[in-house]
Amino acid sequence: MSEQKSYGLLKGKKGIVFGPFDESSIGWSIALAAHREGAEVAVSNIAVAARVGKVKQLSEMLGTPLILCDVTNIDELNAGFAELKEKFGTVDFIVHSVGMSQNIRKEKAYEDLNYEWFMKTLDVSAISLHKIITVAMQHNAINDFGSIIALSYIAAQKNYWTYSDMGDAKALLESIVRSYGPRLAKRGIRINTISQSPTMTRAGSGIDDFDKMFEYSNLHSPLGNASAEECADFAVMLLSDLSRKVTMQNLYHDGGYSMMGTTLPFLRLMHHALQHDDLVKQAGFEEFAPPQLKSEQVR
Ligand SMILES: NC(=O)c1ccc[n+]([C@@H]2O[C@H](COP(=O)([O-])OP(=O)(O)OC[C@H]3O[C@@H](n4cnc5c(N)ncnc54)[C@H](O)[C@@H]3O)[C@@H](O)[C@H]2O)c1
Repeated sequence: MSEQKSYGLLKGKKGIVFGPFDESSIGWSIALAAHREGAEVAVSNIAVAARVGKVKQLSEMLGTPLILCDVTNIDELNAGFAELKEKFGTVDFIVHSVGMSQNIRKEKAYEDLNYEWFMKTLDVSAISLHKIITVAMQHNAINDFGSIIALSYIAAQKNYWTYSDMGDAKALLESIVRSYGPRLAKRGIRINTISQSPTMTRAGSGIDDFDKMFEYSNLHSPLGNASAEECADFAVMLLSDLSRKVTMQNLYHDGGYSMMGTTLPFLRLMHHALQHDDLVKQAGFEEFAPPQLKSEQVR
């Protein structure tokens, strides 16, 4: 359990977190932080992940129900919310911490996507948010003045080569937040995304050269990359009444990365590297760079 001080921000509230797999998961940290702040927190994952991961242990630790369901499957969501209401009651917050791309897992190039997998990426990582909200509303499972959050990444706004079809999924996820926002607002319910730094989780580490993305982002973030635990602290603020007028936002939780251009040490490092043919070759400029970088004149 989290040893950080509790501010009691979620005292008296109940919620459900979709997507904790193991201790590295962002959803895992959010569930623990919400519990620390006084909430009762149910957790959910797809059955196969519950078998190989540790979400069952988490639900036992929290003393709350584990709801097994595939968030892309409306029948399973219906059964899941019915079970949640029966065993746990209605909730004040919902956390969507779910994502998956088979194209990334199988290292399919963006120019050669498997379209069935692409649809699956969009369904699991974005449309599932729409499905969860819609089914929760149909079941009257979320209370007025509640809060919904989902986890995003800056690849929704900018190109990150290796993030592939997940960039499209994150753009759609953020769009669903904007589209659902005013509709949920009629009941005082807020909805936002947190755009989180690269984080060493199972989903994160599946991305090609993820360690280098992590390193790059860390070097360009004035406050350094944000950890899963730090993300969870920010998340509880958004789940609490203190953020009651914040809705339809994509909020960067990234140590300042999104507002940085570059840094002087990084420019010097790049300049130095460009003087060395072997480094230029190793980095793959021939394959990836615009024409001017392939030309000798650049150096
Ligand atoms: N790790 C990062 O660098 C990073 C950065 C920004 C945003 N995010 C986002 O954070 C969220 C959580 O990911 P994470 O990094 O903690 O990885 P994670 O692997 O721990 O969590 C992803 C979860 O999604 C679940 N899932 C996959 N398909 C599902 C389905 N059909 N039904 C229900 N659950 C399903 C998995 O079982 C897993 O528990 C994702 O939306 C991810 O894109 C991650």
